[in-house]
Amino acid sequence: MAGSVWVVAATPSGRQADEPAIPNRIPAVFPAAWRFPAGAHATFAPHAIVASNNRLAADVGAAVMKQGGNAVDAAVATGFALAVTFPEAGNLGGGGYMVIRMADGRTAALDYRETAPLAATRDMYVGANGKITGESVIGPKASGVPGAVAGMIEAHRKYGVLPISRVLAPALRLATEGFVVDSTFFRSLSGEKYRIGSFAGKSVFFPNGAAPPIGSRLVQPQLARTIKLIGDSGSTVFYRGSIADSIAAEMQRSGGLITKEDLARYQPIWRRPVRSSYRGYALISMPPSSSGGTTVTEMLNILEAYGPPSPFGTTERIHALASASQRAFIDRNSKLGDPGFVKVPLSTLTSKTYAQAIARTISRDRADPTTQLVFGAGEGNETTHYSVVDRFGNAVATTTTLNDLYGSGVFVSGAGFFLNDEMDDFTTKSGTPNMFGLIQGAANSIAPGKRMLSAMSPTIVLDPKGNLLLVTGARGGPRIISATSQIILDVIDHRMSLADAMSAPRIHHQSLPDSIRVETDGVEPAVLARLRAMGHHIYELSGIASAASIMRVRGGWEGMDDPRSHGGAAGF
Ligand code: DON
Repeated sequence: MAGSVWVVAATPSGRQADEPAIPNRIPAVFPAAWRFPAGAHATFAPHAIVASNNRLAADVGAAVMKQGGNAVDAAVATGFALAVTFPEAGNLGGGGYMVIRMADGRTAALDYRETAPLAATRDMYVGANGKITGESVIGPKASGVPGAVAGMIEAHRKYGVLPISRVLAPALRLATEGFVVDSTFFRSLSGEKYRIGSFAGKSVFFPNGAAPPIGSRLVQPQLARTIKLIGDSGSTVFYRGSIADSIAAEMQRSGGLITKEDLARYQPIWRRPVRSSYRGYALISMPPSSSGGTTVTEMLNILEAYGPPSPFGTTERIHALASASQRAFIDRNSKLGDPGFVKVPLSTLTSKTYAQAIARTISRDRADPTTQLVFGAGEGNETTHYSVVDRFGNAVATTTTLNDLYGSGVFVSGAGFFLNDEMDDFTTKSGTPNMFGLIQGAANSIAPGKRMLSAMSPTIVLDPKGNLLLVTGARGGPRIISATSQIILDVIDHRMSLADAMSAPRIHHQSLPDSIRVETDGVEPAVLARLRAMGHHIYELSGIASAASIMRVRGGWEGMDDPRSHGGAAGF
């Protein structure tokens, strides 16, 4: 089970209500063969907590809060630490989203998604034979202009309380002094030998032709220098200074598109969060350029309109979930894109009236093929999430990504980090699935300076009294939307504990391919048979996304990394 208690202080923080956050809890019952037990425990901390897919990074966030930092300081410290200890997804060469709710009620959403380089063109990944080339998933042409450093520094500038050099000190130490390679990291590196070994990161991660052995210490002096420079002089050095020079040089050497002009133009954007409600609970989530908050909201609105929830794991519940998801993804895939480039019908997609109309299209007793569902106007794996709550009650949900494990594989020589392969999140060719099987529309076509549509869904949930209840989000491409929604539904509808909501089997329907993805042994065989009889195609997956969540409980907080992952929660 992921996570253990880092420090548990004796006195619960005064400001947490001493009532159970979710009254009338119901013990969860999972299918007999399901691999995670019901009734597991999350990590408890009375004051402040971080949950992350990487344990060392969670420790860093908790330590920064112990030194007086707030949740935003901790999120930024965790983000930089992830770039050191979890390079498969943690990054300086990628991008992400941060949803913030301060204890005084202020909310904010920061978009630091990558942008297409100025030299990018709509059909740049379509070869002479009309087929897509594969250059959007590996190699130098796959990268968007990184936003991670600008985003994290901007979040800290606006909301942080500790000096940036102190916030970055733990990541700097981990890069300089190294950290111990564990079996998870060893397996992760070894599994991506081709991607990493094809580029300059080979000398760092495969120094003698193999990944550093388990138990050895990995030091990253180039990355340490980069973090030190950012700590000393902020993001300018990354976008206009010596690190920008290194990125541009790497691109020139290898035939990539990102130039110094692209880097100098990059700006993170503060956006108004998507705010919605579900059965009296309030949701605060990420608006476009991510589809996450909009699609979670549309899906939950459809379910609310569909009627009272059937019990967990039943045919009726899975049919309702899959049908709502199928419909919300039809809108996601055709109507959403970067709002700086396309008109996004955000108020329609998040409206209760619209959801009621869509809910009426769901047949109670049979599946409806995606191709027969048309509504409204419109046409016709690697990421990491972390959640933070501080002792003041400020909360941060952050998801960041390189897209694939280790991104494009391209490693910036001298600066010590991987570049993303986020360009694959664009519609590279109409009607052609991307690496996640998503078939997307013109709203998400490539254009210079445009942000590619994301599924990242960092989300904060308040209880009906307006108290912070849940901080959540996940990794896993479009399955992020399903995992995030279902954790929220498991807590609100099925009255599960955090550990049960994180352990519960999940399903996924992204409209095309037109099938319900289920986790192996996550649905009772009799239920699967009934779903098939209704016309649903069923497709089995070993796991659906990986979340990292925090929930308010009596006397403090519980935090938990996904049992499908290998991270943990740390707090005090
Ligand atoms: O932004 C997105 O939706 C994708 N680039 C996320 C990729 C991802 O979650 C892969 N991780 N498992």
